[in-house]
Amino acid sequence: MNNVFGVYNPVKIHFGRGLIAETGRIAKKYSDSALIATGKNSMQKTGTLDRVTKSLKDAGVKPVVYDKITPNPTIKEIDEAAEIVRKNNIGMIIGLGGGSPLDAAKAIAVAAKDNIPVWNYLKTPADKALPVITIVSTSGTGSEVNRYSVMTNPETGEKPGFGYECMYPKEAVIDPEIMASMPPYVTATTGFDVFVHALEAFTGKAINAFSSAYCMQAFYLLKDNLLKAYNEPDNLDARGNMALASALAGLAIDISGVGIIHALEHPVSGNYPSVAHGAGLAALAVASMKYNLESRKRDFMLIAHHYGIKRAGKSDDEYAASLIEKIKEVLAALKLNITLKYLGVEKDKLAKISKEAFMTMGFAVQNNPAPIDEKEALRLLESSY
Ligand SMILES: [Fe+2]
Repeated sequence: MNNVFGVYNPVKIHFGRGLIAETGRIAKKYSDSALIATGKNSMQKTGTLDRVTKSLKDAGVKPVVYDKITPNPTIKEIDEAAEIVRKNNIGMIIGLGGGSPLDAAKAIAVAAKDNIPVWNYLKTPADKALPVITIVSTSGTGSEVNRYSVMTNPETGEKPGFGYECMYPKEAVIDPEIMASMPPYVTATTGFDVFVHALEAFTGKAINAFSSAYCMQAFYLLKDNLLKAYNEPDNLDARGNMALASALAGLAIDISGVGIIHALEHPVSGNYPSVAHGAGLAALAVASMKYNLESRKRDFMLIAHHYGIKRAGKSDDEYAASLIEKIKEVLAALKLNITLKYLGVEKDKLAKISKEAFMTMGFAVQNNPAPIDEKEALRLLESSY
């Protein structure tokens, strides 16, 4: 646990059923025009986009919808949306949907301020952005409450994360009602993402007293609600608790970062954009947990305890390892006991993926509890294949 650290998170969180109707009132404080960054399908089909645009119009905020955000949003989409914002002098960005539109909203907010391609911000820090409001429809990403954005360069397959202080959303609307429409596969993959956020922040080198508290509460909520939300999609209590777990784990990674599972997953879904982030994590988690077990035995025991695993005469080694067995059971129950091969990853791409993890996700590699080099990362990819 670190004894020298800083903690900062300025996002105002609104949590509760039916709160998306308040979007207009919340947004009006920042501007009288908003670009809504969203995807093509689910927000339209469920009527959520209509409810958001109505609330904005009722409050006197003019909405402009940009609905071309894809899963694993590309720099082309972000630059195109930023251009629309500049041309129309739009004063605010609203990210509506899962992690991709939310990440894209933050990137658009930065790119719209200067007339330079968003990819440049990987090297040149940004210090100004338009105000962002996040309305999250999945419980997994944590993007609703943190500064991070992940973007994909389709020409190279690179999928780096970046985040500057100016990129924190001003306000986040977390409304469990709009999560009830999540299909089971999305509930499973985004829900498992929550677990990996809490796991990697909790066991990472940058853990501190604040992020650790967020993680422990997230594990506690995950234990009772991940499978319940998957098996009972209309259970709004379970949906609400998973939304809380997502936000808590999102705050934890904002403070303490992620580790090797995320570092390896980003180039997987960067090179194979049809792979859902949480599915890639599911394929990589067990091998990576085994790799880190020895260096974080005590943390694994604590997580096992918070996950409700009975100690019952187990030695320390057995109890720590029982967490991995538990996660295998959870993955099977979520139908996510899958491999990289199952996800369509080609074996001869593994070396490229390992290399890219070190190039674009270096901060996550560094934060991993057990030291790891490119060769060992390749071995992890091979055992997850
Ligand atoms: Fe994640």
